[in-house]
Amino acid sequence: MSSTPFSQTLRERTWNTHSDTEGATFMSDLMSGKGTLDDYIALVVQHYFIYEALERVEQRYLDNAEASQVITGRLTRIPNLVADLEHLLGTNWREEIRPVPATETYTARIEDLDPAWGGGFIAHHYTRYLGDLSGGQHIYKVMQRRFGLGEDGVKFYLFDDIADPTEFKNEYRAALDGFGWSGEQAERVIDEVIAAYTLNTEVFRDLSAAKAAVAV
Ligand code: HEM
Repeated sequence: MSSTPFSQTLRERTWNTHSDTEGATFMSDLMSGKGTLDDYIALVVQHYFIYEALERVEQRYLDNAEASQVITGRLTRIPNLVADLEHLLGTNWREEIRPVPATETYTARIEDLDPAWGGGFIAHHYTRYLGDLSGGQHIYKVMQRRFGLGEDGVKFYLFDDIADPTEFKNEYRAALDGFGWSGEQAERVIDEVIAAYTLNTEVFRDLSAAKAAVAV
């Protein structure tokens, strides 16, 4: 039996896929200064649809023995995304936003998860929120600086109820390590995290394609 904690195995086994997501042209352009404010807004819009699904489906897992250990209102992003969209697009934001096709595929995957499979929900929860508490904290500063934003417009990246993201992530990893998943159960979760990363990469690809279509 391996003594490596599951959280470490998960990170190691998915880090290449993380690098593909992080390195997607749409994201790297935003980070390097080639992306525009409209690109950033397009990303916030996709986040809205993704978190709307994630945080709605979360309700199905409140009684799940495993998922309930990572679900917390301290992570909830929808109120912050709504505030960002109101700031960036105005009060009619809801009528102006559309998911790209990959976002529809992503939200359908979250919605179609087996309600009895806590690990599947945790895979999506982990991929988004631990990312927001990691690279997201860097993305936040770059977007603020690049687009001259204060807190308005980038509240998605602000976790008022999490004073120490590193400590929070360590507690989250400890929860993952405590589930005692069998090799087969662990593999299934790792596969779902890889699927979640890939879906995020596809959202970036669609956002690049949508940009290209507008530019023609
Ligand atoms: C510019 C884009 C990105 C940068 C610069 C970035 C950077 C990073 C860095 C430096 C870490 C390690 C932090 C630590 O050790 O505590 C990290 C972790 C993580 N990132 Fe990203 N990231 C980016 C995009 C993304 C995206 C788009 C996602 C998912 C949708 C994501 C998901 C994650 C996750 C889940 C972790 C935690 C891994 C673990 O420790 O288990 N990241 N990221």
